[in-house]
Amino acid sequence: MKHIAIFASGTGSNALKMIEYFNVRQHSSIRVGLVVSNKKDAPVLEKAQKHDVPTLIIGRANFYNTQAILKDLADYAIDYLVLAGFLWLVPVYLVERFPSKIINIHPALLPKYGGKGMYGMNVHRAVHDARETETGITIHYVNENYDEGQVIFQATCSLELADQPDQIAAKVRALEHQYFAKVVEGAISNE
Ligand code: GRF
Repeated sequence: MKHIAIFASGTGSNALKMIEYFNVRQHSSIRVGLVVSNKKDAPVLEKAQKHDVPTLIIGRANFYNTQAILKDLADYAIDYLVLAGFLWLVPVYLVERFPSKIINIHPALLPKYGGKGMYGMNVHRAVHDARETETGITIHYVNENYDEGQVIFQATCSLELADQPDQIAAKVRALEHQYFAKVVEGAISNE
């Protein structure tokens, strides 16, 4: 059985889809074993607890100045890290400990609309303001720089010029929920 730790800072709709796909459906070889968040009141934590997935809160000091999380990840036999709306940069010690085993989803077609500060509605506002006729998702491996690792998968959706940022966000979220768990399953299965 391979175990995933999901890192998330916010709502957790992607984390929930992943827990449903692997845990609720009792996938034959993959489970979400832990949800890690930097926000003790993040709604993702309640979603994890509802499905009996253990949760862990991290603080800047222990996450960046110590490697304490490595013991927690080992305690839960974690093989892969999946970032689903995790707003902190992954420290080098984690990238080195989990080479080609940290996967992130970005709500745009990287390399466009990526990098520091490009997250959530900032991305969809930038896409809207640029009058793009399409956007989408990028699922990629994580290295020590924001949104720069090897791309695993991209999917696109068309945009109408009348689409407002919240409508763009909804179209992108639909793609995320359709593909993210399946792409993670494929990456782990082809390890
Ligand atoms: C998603 O848009 C994802 O692409 C980005 O952060 C957002 C997380 O949304 N990385 P949710 O918390 O899973 O609903």
